[in-house]
This record gives sequence, C-alpha cells and structure tokens, in this order.
Amino acid sequence: MTKNIQATAPSKDHEHILILDFGSQVTQLIARRLRESGVYCEVWPFNHADDERIKAYAPKGIILSGGPLSVLDDNAPKAPQIVFELGVPIFGICYGQQTMVEQLGGNVEAEQSREFGRAFVDVLDHSEITTNVWDKGAHEQVWMSHGDHVASLPEGFKVIAKSEGAPYAFIADTERHFYGVQFHPEVLHTLHGRELLKNFTHEVCGCSGDWTMAAFHSEIIQRIRDQVGDEHVICGLSGGVDSSVTAILLHEAIGDQLTCIYVDTGLMRSGESRQVVAMFRDHYKIKLIKEDAEELFLGELDGVSDPEEKRKIIGRLFIEVFDKCSERITEELGKSAKFLAQGTLYPDVIESVSIVGGESLTIKSHHNVGGLPDNMAMDLVEPLRDLFKDEVRILGRELHMPEEFIRRHPFPGPGLAIRIPGAITAEKLEILRKADLVYLDEIHKAGLYDTIWQAFTVLLPVRTVGVMGDSRTYDYVCGLRAVTSTDGMTAEYYPFEHKFLSRVSTRIINEVHGINRVVYDITSKPPGTIEWE
Ligand code: XMP
Repeated sequence: MTKNIQATAPSKDHEHILILDFGSQVTQLIARRLRESGVYCEVWPFNHADDERIKAYAPKGIILSGGPLSVLDDNAPKAPQIVFELGVPIFGICYGQQTMVEQLGGNVEAEQSREFGRAFVDVLDHSEITTNVWDKGAHEQVWMSHGDHVASLPEGFKVIAKSEGAPYAFIADTERHFYGVQFHPEVLHTLHGRELLKNFTHEVCGCSGDWTMAAFHSEIIQRIRDQVGDEHVICGLSGGVDSSVTAILLHEAIGDQLTCIYVDTGLMRSGESRQVVAMFRDHYKIKLIKEDAEELFLGELDGVSDPEEKRKIIGRLFIEVFDKCSERITEELGKSAKFLAQGTLYPDVIESVSIVGGESLTIKSHHNVGGLPDNMAMDLVEPLRDLFKDEVRILGRELHMPEEFIRRHPFPGPGLAIRIPGAITAEKLEILRKADLVYLDEIHKAGLYDTIWQAFTVLLPVRTVGVMGDSRTYDYVCGLRAVTSTDGMTAEYYPFEHKFLSRVSTRIINEVHGINRVVYDITSKPPGTIEWE
C-alpha cells in the first residue's frame, strides 16, 4: 500500500490563520479569499481541533466558519473554549458568530424573518475591520444565509452594523479583538467581503501577506529534496494541470531521479498524447515512458456499454499498465523507486466535517488516470497538497508553463470513453475527436474558451436520417455541451448565441464524416451532471 507519510509542506513556516469549520458549504471560500491576499491558512473541522493541537499551531488569528445547524439545538457544535483564551483575534462568521456569542455569555434567538441571499446592512459605527472599506452611515450589500440571529451581546461587544433581519449583523469587541458577522464576507455577493477579511488578517492579526507563489516555489523545491534524498520517484502524467505541475516541480528539484509514466489509453483527444511527449520529453527533458495501450483498452472495452463498468475497466487496466511500467523502471535502475508523486490538492486533503451524518450516494465512481495505483509499496510525494486549483495555475505560470496549457478545461480520467454513451469503437472515437476539434476551434475563435468551465462534444448512440445534397444520410447525432462552474460541483449551461450554434452545427456536419445532426444540451447540474456518463 502507498503510505501517506508527510505533506511536504513548507507552508506552516509562514504567518498563518486557522479556520475552524462548522460544516458550511462555503468554508473553503474563506480559505481562498485569505490565500488571495497572501495569507496562508488551514481549514480544520471544529471537532478535530484539540487544545494542544491549536496551541501548537500558533495561528495569528482564528476564523469560526458558518454551519448548517442551529446553536439552539441540543448538542450544537461549539468552538473549543481555548480559542477564546489564546489572546489572538477571532472572526466568527454566521454560525461562528452565534456560537461565539453563546459561549461568551450572549444570546441567540430563532428567527421569525429569515434572510437568504442578497441583503443590506446599515453601518452604525467604526471598527478596524471596516476601516477604509465601509464608512459609518453607509448602506452596504452583503450575502446572508441564516435562520437564527444574535439577540443580546456578551459583555465588551458593540454593534457595528445591522440589517433588517439581524440587529447584530456585525459586532465587535475591540479590546479582545473578537469580531462577528451574520453575513458571509467570503462570498463574492458581499461586495467588499474580500477587503473586510483582509482587514481582519492584515490590520487586526498583523499578517504581512508573506504567502506568495514565488516563496512557495523555492521552499517546496528544498522540501522535495529533503524528503526524497537520492531515491527515485515515479510520477503518473495524465496531461492535466495538476500532474504536470507536480512533474515539473519534481524535475526541477531532483532532475533524473524522476521518471514519468504516461499511459496512452486510446481515449484521449486529438493530438493530446503527442503534445504530452513534446512538452515533457522534448521541452522539459523529463524522463518519460509513454506506454501505448490503446489496443488493450479498446479490446477490454469492446461491447461494454454500462458507464460504471467502463470506468471500472479503465481504472483496473490503468493500474495494471502503470504497474508494468514501474517494474520496467525497477529493472533499469536495479532497485525499485521509493516514491510515487501525486498531484493531490488541498480540497482533497481538507477533512470534511460530518455534521448531519449519513452516507452520500455514489453518483459516479471517479477515476483519475494518473492517480494512485493503490497496491504499490511506495511513499507519497505530494507537493501540491497545500494548494487550491487556482494556486496551482499560478504556480504553473511561475514555472513558465505555456498559458494555454495552464488554462485548459478539465478532462475526465476515463477520457472520451464517457463521452460515447453505449459501446465504444475506434471509429466512433475518431468521429468524436474530429467533432470536438471543430467545436473547440469555434469556441476559441469566439473568445469564449476562458469564460466556459468545460466544453466538449458527445457522440450519441443513435443514427438519424438526414439529407445532404441529393442523398439520404443515416448518421450519428453529436451533442454539444458547455457549462460555467466554479468547482464542477454545480454548473449552468452556457447561453450561446443561436448564430454561434448554427455555425458549429454547419461546420461539424460538413467536416465530420459520420455525423448528420447536432443538438445542444441545456441541462444544468443538478439535475444533470457535466459529463453524460
Ligand atoms: P460530473 O460529470 O460528475 O463531472 O458532473 C464533474 C467534473 O468531474 C469531471 N469528471 C471526472 N474526472 N475522473 C476524473 O478525473 C472521472 O471519472 C470523472 N468523471 C467526471 C468532469 O469532467 C467534470 O469536470
């Protein structure tokens, strides 16, 4: 089994803020806003943070997040009492404000009038957090999502702002530097939320903003060297940003002690495998094994139409091929590689808070090609495990990776296999690749690529009748998908202009032999998913 031994994380040497998570859907946004202003922070579940761990972490400030429960419930989660005794500034958001108030001797009431979504607050007083952001007397837009509200304040607190449904929408104890807001400053609909959080971290907690990608870059290189020593590392490349940045960092740190493996499953987009080789082997001069496994994958997938079965076959084969490649590396080196490098990101590492309990349903079993073969006796090197996706992109720029590569839309591990509902054939893959090229070409030409989270074509397992010139055609239907999203968890279909869709349809039908009808998918997620399988 791979052992998850260490984070390879230099980040705790920077000034840092602790975010205690009470289970809000938007807690990660707090961390992202702080990181954007150059402050390193970590998100810990409120109930995994014992006193010693918090003291040892020595944060410059603590943020208590929102959460789905009511402080009035029996067994409502509480902040560890020690956070109020450390002498560091505290910022309670929504549930975090309410539990702070309750724990310090104030009161919270169940609400008659709930506030959800956009709301306005009246600014009644000054505070360090509102300095140069909100003036006394101003009327400011915030984003609310609450049922309960604070009804009486603990000693030492005063009101900074109120809204219609929350008389204590913003409170402060300026002696102890404890602050609480009923609204969510981390959500962009709170127009100056970013600045309010920055005032908390920079002005109140005294952070200087020492978390920069340039600093991270040089520190992580040293950490990788310290962890790896003179051992060998294997890294699976998928063609995606995370595994690519991981490989380039590793190569910078340890040079030829790294070998990358790229498995060509035959399920990639047009020209993709060639680009991976050109970039890693030819440009970066990284040792790369490119394994052509198209025949194996297509053979085993022959006649398989169930989406879950497809994913399982692909996952299993990927690990088998990866294993064989690493055996070859062992033979060449005369010893086995001790480490496996992975592009694990911070959202995968954050421990989730189980507040409501219950198992979530498996909608799709995700498989990351380039991901972890679970049966290898290696330790992990995970240089990106402190970073969010947008930070990985910034790091990619720091490493001088080509911009169009950094900005690429996500591509699923099982590749085009899950964009061909029903059985897969080499012929269908070829048709789909051509259609996808045309669609993306038009998206680029229209300047829409960066506005869209993900755009791709699917090839439907139906043939319909058409007419081209004087002849009858009987060909496949091509579905176009384009969505906007921030994290892939929810998505809206992209509202293309009709002219654009007509252009794409005409081009695909004219240029791609085998397709005679084009449809546009206008399903959002939920209820749909982004991919069709
Ligand atoms: P869905 O289709 O679940 O997709 O709405 C959400 C995001 O995840 C990607 N996706 C995958 N990525 N392995 C991956 O690495 C998979 O099996 C997989 N399935 C979906 C999808 O492209 C979208 O970005």
